[in-house]
Amino acid sequence: MPDAPLLQVEGVVGGYGAADEILKGISATLMPGRMAAIVGPNGAGKSTLLKAIAGLLKPKAGRILLEGAPLTGLPPRAIAARGVAFVPQEANIFPSLTVRENLEMGGYLEPRPRVVAKVEALMARFPVLAEKRRRAARTLSGGQRQILAMAMALMVEPRLLLLDEPSAGLSPKAAEALFDGIAAIHAEGTAILMVEQNALEALSIAEEGIVLVDGRVARTGAAAELAGDAEVRRLFLGG
Ligand SMILES: Nc1ncnc2c1ncn2[C@@H]1O[C@H](COP(=O)(O)OP(=O)(O)OP(=O)(O)O)[C@@H](O)[C@H]1O
Ligand SMILES: [Mg+2]
Repeated sequence: MPDAPLLQVEGVVGGYGAADEILKGISATLMPGRMAAIVGPNGAGKSTLLKAIAGLLKPKAGRILLEGAPLTGLPPRAIAARGVAFVPQEANIFPSLTVRENLEMGGYLEPRPRVVAKVEALMARFPVLAEKRRRAARTLSGGQRQILAMAMALMVEPRLLLLDEPSAGLSPKAAEALFDGIAAIHAEGTAILMVEQNALEALSIAEEGIVLVDGRVARTGAAAELAGDAEVRRLFLGG
């Protein structure tokens, strides 16, 4: 029998206030340990979809299931406790806290001794965070901030990591280093759903691709296939 899906998004419709159909019926599946890149034009609803999965937005129709159990309607904290960590596009660190304090905040759901051990492990894994542990997070470079945001999310040892445009605003070199870090986290078995403008880069480290256009899934498939598809390249990847 094949593995059961980790995440199932079934016909999700939702949005904000009067604009309550930004997502116009999204369905997608992610198997355990897999990585999918979500790409598509500005305003397609990519961030909205991640917010719906994380519980920051309540769909008006459809269901979202983690390991077969519904997440829809649970508060964000309960969804985090189920093993879903969300790194939003903006405001994903506490600028005035130190690097170490930020990591500790990532572990707010956990008992103190475990938090201390995990902070140490993450600083060993991302040496730049150890180096800057006593510095206010606002003093970090853009790339270092994104590494910190991701490390905070890893404090809960998520089964599913949701990343919204982690490379936004980074230099090509910093983006490359960040993608290496994301690929390493994925290689250890964490399932990842990553929204990226940097579509070709994202599809090169993901196994699957989901193309969102105007609140709908326009294409899904193997990431390599989508990255090589002439129509996808022309329409969405500027190539
Ligand atoms: N808080 C909000 N209130 C009302 N409308 C919103 C809100 N956030 C986003 N929208 C609208 O929802 C639509 C989808 O936005 P979303 O941020 O999900 O797009 P996106 O695909 O992530 O785009 P981008 O590539 O620019 O990040 C847009 O039309 C946007 O204006
Ligand atoms: Mg977005």
